[in-house]
Amino acid sequence: MVRELRVELGDRSYPIVCGPRLLEGAGGWLKRIGRMVPPALVVSNPTVADLYWPPLEASLKGEGWQPHLILLPDSEEAKTLKEISRVYDLAGEIKMERKSPLIALGGGVVGDAAGFVATTWLRGLPFIQIPTTLLAQVDASVGGKVALNHPQGKNLIGAFYQPRLVLIDVDTLKTLPEREFRSGLAEVIKYGVIMDRDFFEYIEQNLENIMAGQPECLMEVVCRSCSLKARVVAQDEREETGLRRILNFGHTVGHAVEAATGFSLYRHGEAVAIGMALAARMAVEMGIFSLQECRRLLALLKRAGLPTEMPPLNGEAFRQALLRDKKIEGGRILMVLPVNLGRVEVREVSWEEILRFI
Ligand SMILES: NC(=O)c1ccc[n+]([C@@H]2O[C@H](COP(=O)([O-])OP(=O)(O)OC[C@H]3O[C@@H](n4cnc5c(N)ncnc54)[C@H](O)[C@@H]3O)[C@@H](O)[C@H]2O)c1
Ligand SMILES: [Zn+2]
Repeated sequence: MVRELRVELGDRSYPIVCGPRLLEGAGGWLKRIGRMVPPALVVSNPTVADLYWPPLEASLKGEGWQPHLILLPDSEEAKTLKEISRVYDLAGEIKMERKSPLIALGGGVVGDAAGFVATTWLRGLPFIQIPTTLLAQVDASVGGKVALNHPQGKNLIGAFYQPRLVLIDVDTLKTLPEREFRSGLAEVIKYGVIMDRDFFEYIEQNLENIMAGQPECLMEVVCRSCSLKARVVAQDEREETGLRRILNFGHTVGHAVEAATGFSLYRHGEAVAIGMALAARMAVEMGIFSLQECRRLLALLKRAGLPTEMPPLNGEAFRQALLRDKKIEGGRILMVLPVNLGRVEVREVSWEEILRFI
């Protein structure tokens, strides 16, 4: 039951392979991609490596990849120049060549940090993503954004760098803490709202099975999300035409909620859920979205255990965070607003309009 999708980007196109027990065959998948030579450098963290390094190591060794493992801390601290400098050191020591694969095994944090190393070491190593959180499987590992944090903000140091292969072993979700899983579900629901009404309805109808980890449902959710994201990325790789902006549904407010609450109160997906709920309510108020569909969205978010109300927070900190967002253009706040379940529109809104909803 392995499914394969492609992100179509000309000579930088790559496959997303999704299925159960794929870690055990990782070495073979790397061979199939071709144009790579050992050694392989695997970047992970202690939590994920404890669980998944043994099968990955066995498979890579079995296929002659001469794998080495390096661990970053299990926190956003991994996405710093200080921490990744150790990865560069090891890449040099084990004599990684231009064609030696650098593999990220973990969630979005590991993927972003390892991807940054891949794009910079020797001006670019073949990069392989093996995402192990739902959020990384449906979002962070697809699309080619890699990034580090700076004291002045998250993800300020970064690049667009497409992987050669995304290998999604859905079995890894079995060990994911429930809160992380729900957080990833927020991005899944987002895809339904922004571009696929049938998918939204599928999630509504199958939510309990999805949350229980029913294998067919998980495959459907992960593959459908990846293919939707792949479609957007193929059309607007570098956020130039504005199409990729729709992926930002729930994120303008979501990012500001995360920042105004010190990045500790909410997981990313939880903040995005709050942002989607606020955008939906605004769209109803503006007369572009029906109250009935707004209620359906809020109900689904609640069933998924996600928050839909703004927390009490410092309004000024929230405003500052909102206006600092990378996606703000010339001081204008562009918000992605739903017009239907399955379709969104980008509209300019003022701070005062947002203020009425917080
Ligand atoms: N590049 C992009 O396009 C993009 C998109 C969205 C988010 N991101 C970035 O991704 C990061 C968030 O990623 P995340 O939500 O995956 O968080 P994460 O990487 O911190 O993982 C969450 C937690 O789950 C643990 N974990 C991972 N896989 C596990 C498994 N299979 N079983 C048990 N535990 C497991 C991790 O060790 C960690 O403690 C942020 O830094 C964000 O900026 C990047
Ligand atoms: Zn997101």
